[in-house]
Amino acid sequence: MPKEKEEIPTEEEEKKLTDVPGIGPGIAAKLEAAGVYDLMGLAVMSPPALSEMAGVGEAVARKAIQAARSMMNLGFVSGDEFAKKRENVQFITTGAQSLNDLLGGKGVETGSITEAYGAFGSGKTQLALTLAVNTQLPKDKGGVEGKTVYIDTESTFRPERIRQIAEAIGANPEKVLKNILVARAFNSDHQILLLDKINEMIRDGEPIRLVIIDSLTAHFRAEFAGRGQLADRQQKLNRYLHNLMKMADQHNLAVFVTNQVMANPAVMFGDPTTAIGGHILGHASTYRMYFRRGKAGSRVAKLIDSPNLPENECQFWLTEAGVRDEG
Ligand code: GTP
Ligand code: MG
Repeated sequence: MPKEKEEIPTEEEEKKLTDVPGIGPGIAAKLEAAGVYDLMGLAVMSPPALSEMAGVGEAVARKAIQAARSMMNLGFVSGDEFAKKRENVQFITTGAQSLNDLLGGKGVETGSITEAYGAFGSGKTQLALTLAVNTQLPKDKGGVEGKTVYIDTESTFRPERIRQIAEAIGANPEKVLKNILVARAFNSDHQILLLDKINEMIRDGEPIRLVIIDSLTAHFRAEFAGRGQLADRQQKLNRYLHNLMKMADQHNLAVFVTNQVMANPAVMFGDPTTAIGGHILGHASTYRMYFRRGKAGSRVAKLIDSPNLPENECQFWLTEAGVRDEG
């Protein structure tokens, strides 16, 4: 191997838990049994939680977490590398210019995760279905000429809605349906395993440009229902998001996930709902929208915590033709 290549560590040389000072094979095994498999999982833990999980003192735990964080080299790339990545970004139209504008102008981006969270009936699945159709459009019509993988956790995928949305833009409904690969995820482990399957399909040459997970969190919420299981759920969800992010990045595909809301009694002001998954999910998804019902049957989308776009709101409509600017 040429020398200059060896000096630049690549994504592939991912570090293991046992590479962290203070984490031996015994502790690593305990962590893995508890759902912490990699540096990302370790980096997001709190010292008391790690201390309890691994049976080590808090000082050791704190050092290990700090080491994991610095070893991960969180988030920095050189300016030219960043610019090059941005050049490759493509967009999938949401069907409504208002919603596209909210997301920066052209819709959902490849190479990142877009999340919609909101109450039942707020339009999360309708946007997912619209995106599954629009992904197939030519580039000058707001698509990326690709296929969609639709991971359905709640059996809400409706082929007849796809047909309607496709017909409304003058596309052949049966052809459009063929380009949407649907998988029902039966539980969170199955949902996680399906990512390997997607990576396999991409390796085999399937031009997958959009991965939808509707809903991202339902299984996790149902399976880790107890208060004491919150940390485990968070770890598992976090690892999953990390893998989704990696997939989006490596294959330059868009990921769209939906998320339910729950009442949060700790919130006294503003909207008393927070997305399931909370803080960690807030960091992993690049674009996060909160959907709610608006006036006269419309829907309102609010962009939350975007690093490079203003916090903004827009109105859109759910129609027979999918997501639209007008009802
Ligand atoms: P949950 O999955 O239950 O959390 O909700 P969701 O946010 O996924 O809701 P979804 O996107 O399924 O929105 C359902 C709403 O879309 C319905 O209440 C209707 O208002 C609207 N909708 C669905 N299909 C049609 C249609 O064919 N025509 C019109 N006009 N509206 C539709
Ligand atoms: Mg839904």
